[in-house]
Amino acid sequence: MKDWRWAFVGFLYFALALRIGAVELGRGQQTERISGSAGDVLEDDPVGRLKVFVYELPSKYNKKILQKDPRCLIHMFAAEIFMHRFLLSSPVRTLNPEEADWFYTPVYTTCDLTPNGLPLPFKSPRMMRSAIQLISSNWPYWNRTEGGDHFFIVPHDFGACFHYQEEKAIERGILHLLQRATLVQTFGQKNHVCLKDGSITIPPYAPPQKMQAHLIPPDTPRSIFVYFRGLFYDVGNDPEGGYYARGARASVWENFKDNPLFDISTEHPTTYYEDMQRAIFCLCPLGWAPWSPRLVEAVIFGCIPVIIADDIVLPFADAIPWEEIGVYVDEKDVPKLDNILTSIPPEVILRKQRLLANPSMKQAMLFPQPAQPGDAFHQILNGLARKLPHNKNVHLKSGEKILNWTAGPVGDLKPW
Ligand SMILES: *[C@@H]1O[C@H](CO)[C@@H](O)[C@H](O)[C@H]1NC(C)=O
Ligand SMILES: *[C@@H]1O[C@H](CO)[C@@H](O)[C@H](O)[C@H]1NC(C)=O
Repeated sequence: MKDWRWAFVGFLYFALALRIGAVELGRGQQTERISGSAGDVLEDDPVGRLKVFVYELPSKYNKKILQKDPRCLIHMFAAEIFMHRFLLSSPVRTLNPEEADWFYTPVYTTCDLTPNGLPLPFKSPRMMRSAIQLISSNWPYWNRTEGGDHFFIVPHDFGACFHYQEEKAIERGILHLLQRATLVQTFGQKNHVCLKDGSITIPPYAPPQKMQAHLIPPDTPRSIFVYFRGLFYDVGNDPEGGYYARGARASVWENFKDNPLFDISTEHPTTYYEDMQRAIFCLCPLGWAPWSPRLVEAVIFGCIPVIIADDIVLPFADAIPWEEIGVYVDEKDVPKLDNILTSIPPEVILRKQRLLANPSMKQAMLFPQPAQPGDAFHQILNGLARKLPHNKNVHLKSGEKILNWTAGPVGDLKPW
């Protein structure tokens, strides 16, 4: 009885998928303006609106680290490397620090991978501290503001909290020396100690050429209702269960593994990117962190992201209307996911698909080489430009000190 019912529902949604695919074909050329919380700013040009000074650091803080492990270039944390390269040849760069609005310190704190390719940020606080010590003693600009006009790229799971487990990340808090700086990070969650006001949340790095190479004709019918590939449990790091993804991924698996509307599995097929282009909804549940590259992949492949990560702050939300594009499902509502998704009216699905088809949306999610107008590099600069002019009290009074160089865990104070 149950099987029969599922088969019937499956058939209905297969039919719906085909219909949606067909309508989408007719409207593929249409695009509309997109507005986020800061308005219609996605296509702003940052050139002429800010000047950035790039500190020159010894190569042990960046190039040498990369030489040791070139995998860092294709990792989801690679924004820290590509942003550095981008800024070196960007027209917003100034060689005269006296006229700079922003100071950037090129330090690759996330390029420290285990043999399995997982970044472990245990040395990052010491490395960051060492870099700040260096810029503050060799140039006068850090001491002027104690970092108030400096920005840092910290793409690790919980940004400058530098730990992959949320509990530990919260316990650590943001590295004290970065309290006054602007953090450009992938992590975003409301009311969380690892996201401070004024930070810029960016997409994780996903390799643009590789995704490009897997594009299939845009009129291909979307015959998969819900798609997901990835871990449901992380037995190695979370043997008791329930901690990883706060149990949300386990719940997806336990509730929907036999549901024909759900194409979900731990196996990563070679057709992963193509499959996303054949799906209507792509699940983007939290993992260790609330975010994952799936979000970028979903946008690039026009698959409506189903965001399961309570209070997540999505990349460039001031420029991109995520509520209109994606579907937010509370972690506690995962068992109702089937009802939630099947009750979305087709016209709403179509509108989301139309927004996703907008090329400027996709561009904003990518860090292409070379950079292109409107890409993620430009969105970061736009975000920094919108924070200008700096608040009057960004400059400290003479003799004033706010930061405490010996605050934080003792382990962080050891030399790097
Ligand atoms: C900045 O302040 C630190 C002490 O807080 C000092 O050691 C350093 O020399 C100062 N930097 C410059 C360039 O004066
Ligand atoms: C700086 O932090 C250390 C360690 O937490 C603390 O012992 C010290 O009193 C602090 N110094 C100031 C000036 O607040």
